[in-house]
Amino acid sequence: MHHLLTLEHMPRAMLEHLLVRAQDLAADAEGGVARRHVLAGKAVCTLFFEPSTRTRSSFSLAAQRLGADLLNFDASTASTTKGEADLDTLKTLEAMGVHAFVVRHKRDGAVAELAAAANPGTVLLNAGDGRSNHPTQGLLDMLTLRQAKGEDFAKLRIVIVGDVKHSRVARSDLHALRALGCGEIRVCGPAALLPEDGTLDGCVVSHDFDAAIEGVDAAMMLRLQRERMAEGLVASLEDYHRDFGLDAARLRRAAPEAIVMHPGPMNRGIEITDEVADGPQSRVLRQVANGVAVRMAVLEALLG
Ligand code: NCD
Repeated sequence: MHHLLTLEHMPRAMLEHLLVRAQDLAADAEGGVARRHVLAGKAVCTLFFEPSTRTRSSFSLAAQRLGADLLNFDASTASTTKGEADLDTLKTLEAMGVHAFVVRHKRDGAVAELAAAANPGTVLLNAGDGRSNHPTQGLLDMLTLRQAKGEDFAKLRIVIVGDVKHSRVARSDLHALRALGCGEIRVCGPAALLPEDGTLDGCVVSHDFDAAIEGVDAAMMLRLQRERMAEGLVASLEDYHRDFGLDAARLRRAAPEAIVMHPGPMNRGIEITDEVADGPQSRVLRQVANGVAVRMAVLEALLG
């Protein structure tokens, strides 16, 4: 593995190796214990052409906890606003001696294109491109599931709920769940927000959340992107909440020890209630914590 662009077609053994390594690093990731020799002398740049809270912060912490020099490049304040091409931006930073770029971009495939054009020694890590891929989110979600439910995914029933059509998180989760042999993957959402392009092959698709959550071991909720309202894909927030929001009553239909996940940012009161988001079954902050460990494992594997 030279770059990390997608989890699609990643061999199961490689996925599991990264998860095991992330678990080993988790204690250090949380406590910030020095592993600063691992990437000493390496320079990592976060290059974000789209906003981010969790992904960028956790990549930054991960790189620093491994001892890398860190450069945070924010496209909203830099020369990109003067029209500099994305590739020129990357080449400029590459010329300063940056070894790895953590890139988020609104366009599908943009990170892969930059990877193809970068110097041979440069490493690209996809921090989310369009609606296509968000591989480290997929990995941290798998780590969260593994911690809660063990390593045998064959016995798991999972439901992914919401705007799967526009979600790079859902796509990366699906790639990883399939690779790890998840027993049953259910996908639930309004018809207008579910893809019809083969993304859901092998999944049990439903528009009835009460039925889809029955007996599951984990519910993975997705953010309802407000722009879908403007596009007319969702009738109203009230309807969406009634049909696809996760509240305590609905959660009782899941398996007794079921966990609730959400990649953030959450729309509280729309796809998830406060009671569930902050309740005992929520793993939302565990996902965030795991994000640091997973990103340390990935940076170490690609650059260490
Ligand atoms: C997501 C993203 O930006 O893809 N957030 C994240 O990285 N944790 C999900 C979203 O914005 O809905």
